[in-house]
Amino acid sequence: MPKRTNQTVLETSLMRWEPLAVKNSQGKAWIKTLSKDEENGARTLLIKFDPGFKQEATTSNLPMDMFVLEGGMQYGNLRFEKDTFHYRPGKTQFGPIDSTEGCTRLVFTLGEGRESPAEPVFIQDVKQMSWGADLFDVTAAKRGRKTLRMDEDSGIVVRFHETWELGSRGLQGVQGLHDYQEEYFTLEGAFWDYLEYVDGHMLNVAGSYGCRAPHECSHGDTLTTVVPTRLIFRADYSTSKEPMNVEDAAKKLDDKKSKPHSEGGHIPVVPPDFTE
Ligand SMILES: [Fe+2]
Repeated sequence: MPKRTNQTVLETSLMRWEPLAVKNSQGKAWIKTLSKDEENGARTLLIKFDPGFKQEATTSNLPMDMFVLEGGMQYGNLRFEKDTFHYRPGKTQFGPIDSTEGCTRLVFTLGEGRESPAEPVFIQDVKQMSWGADLFDVTAAKRGRKTLRMDEDSGIVVRFHETWELGSRGLQGVQGLHDYQEEYFTLEGAFWDYLEYVDGHMLNVAGSYGCRAPHECSHGDTLTTVVPTRLIFRADYSTSKEPMNVEDAAKKLDDKKSKPHSEGGHIPVVPPDFTE
């Protein structure tokens, strides 16, 4: 087997914006591809429109979850601002788009052949939503989550997450392995996270994007070093036996001590083993 290094966390702020051709548009558009599934075409992207960008109304087959990172735009009848979330079903007409100030979005598409709900979701300002339980803090005193979209049929859940306590820890001294696909994008703050690929801890900062395939990419032993830490999570539970909602998952956390790692059990993070 060839030597491999970290394939889990991408520093997207170090990536170059690539030009994006958009039909029936004026102004410039740019793209960064964060992950892709070659088999079904699913992608996670950053898409940026320069100030003054305009696009005529069109129809897309792609079901998409999108979150506005910067700027804003008029999007048909909808107004997108920083912290707007929108789920757009497939086969939907959207636009016209008009962005005076420019707009940067985090975008997740679903692959070919995957079912997705026909009802759109629009949350103009995610900040206005109330906090729900966090996996490691069900009272949401030090860490909290907001569920932006959860669909049991397709197994997709999108969440907004914040940590407010400096030194807050998740899975202290242990690492876990998910049986579902997990993606996250760091909006703000910083935290250390263990990464089995390199027997060490990676600092996640604004722009860090993680993509963990089911049964791969063991991680944990998290330590928050800058607050608030804000993240967008998107998980795909279609392969999973775990509960999708946070309250039920939190109740099962203790079970992980007795389960084998391959079935989602937690194991200790051990110091790197090397003799020169
Ligand atoms: Fe995780």
